[in-house]
Amino acid sequence: MRLYDLARPLLFRMDPETAHERACRALALAGRFGWTRELLASKFVVRDPALQVELAGLRFPNPVGLAAGYDKDCLLTRMTPCLGFGFIEAGTVTPRPQRGNAAPRLFRIPECDALLNRMGFNNHGARAAAEALTEAGRASVPLGINIGMNADTPPERAHKDYAEAFEVLRGFGDYFVVNVSSPNTGGLRQLQSRLALERILTEIHIRNKEKKPVFVKLAPEIETEQLSSLIPLLLAEAAGLIISNTTTSRQDVPPRWATEPGGVSGAPVRERSTRLIAEAYRVSRGRIPIIGSGGIFTAEDAWRKISAGASLVQVYTGLVYRGPGLAREINEGLVRLLRQNGVARIADAVGRSQPETVASQGRP
Ligand SMILES: Cc1cc2nc3c(=O)[nH]c(=O)nc-3n(C[C@H](O)[C@H](O)[C@H](O)COP(=O)(O)O)c2cc1C
Repeated sequence: MRLYDLARPLLFRMDPETAHERACRALALAGRFGWTRELLASKFVVRDPALQVELAGLRFPNPVGLAAGYDKDCLLTRMTPCLGFGFIEAGTVTPRPQRGNAAPRLFRIPECDALLNRMGFNNHGARAAAEALTEAGRASVPLGINIGMNADTPPERAHKDYAEAFEVLRGFGDYFVVNVSSPNTGGLRQLQSRLALERILTEIHIRNKEKKPVFVKLAPEIETEQLSSLIPLLLAEAAGLIISNTTTSRQDVPPRWATEPGGVSGAPVRERSTRLIAEAYRVSRGRIPIIGSGGIFTAEDAWRKISAGASLVQVYTGLVYRGPGLAREINEGLVRLLRQNGVARIADAVGRSQPETVASQGRP
């Protein structure tokens, strides 16, 4: 039994957003002292060369990252690597500060290991994020910064918002993510169309003097045809895809949540995102790097996404249900799975459940 199994019932008595804020405050406090960071790192960080991944010109000590939305204001970048993550993604950051949707806006659905959120990009804006990152200094693992548009920006100016957030933050992130898939900002998912995305990526490209890798985060509902139409653009202008954001489907959640607006994460999005990873890997013939996200609670969940075509994975909801030891558990399990399957390192496991695609790439 984990210590977290004892703490969880107490935490789950608290309102979910309050519990999250308290956890963040505790992490921010712990992050201020070298000795607390070292203590936690000694407990949670798994070091094994088999876990190291090189992607988009960056070196990741392990393939398990913290997904966007946990640290929206870039306040935890010193601390979260000590929980054993191989990379961390902060944001979504919008150019201007905004409050997000009215509370309550975050709900637990424990019957199916899920969360439902309609936070709506609550954040202090790009300039505040830049200040926080200046104060924190460089993170000890690659840092992604996930950017989005403000809720009151008209759709025809969306690309300007991404450009502005990127301009303010470009010196701080090791990679960037264009989030066009949150279901909680009106019109955002329409930016997954080829023309809209091209406009955004072009605006970023003009400003991207350091050639920082730019990923695009997709919704699990994207149609195959639309995904296929994006491939040439992504190959030319993006470093890769993050698959996926939360789902608007209510198929796998109890009926009382059917009309509650927001995106569902955790177990109900697990298979959807894995299927979409496999599809993106197949239609791009393995040429577009993929970061897998959605319902990863165990090493086996991560392994399935890697086998489907993800080079790296990210977790959020699993952290709420399984606690701070999650990255260590997944990493230890991945080392075991690599050995069991006779695979030397993570990169060799990517896409292995899709032998035809791998073969078409000319890999062994
Ligand atoms: C409360 C909450 C807030 C989130 N906020 C963001 C966000 O701001 N930007 C984003 O790209 N994804 C956001 N996500 C989506 C996660 O990054 C992740 O892609 C998704 O939850 C699926 O992974 P999971 O099942 O491990 O949670 C959020 C998820 C949750 C639960």
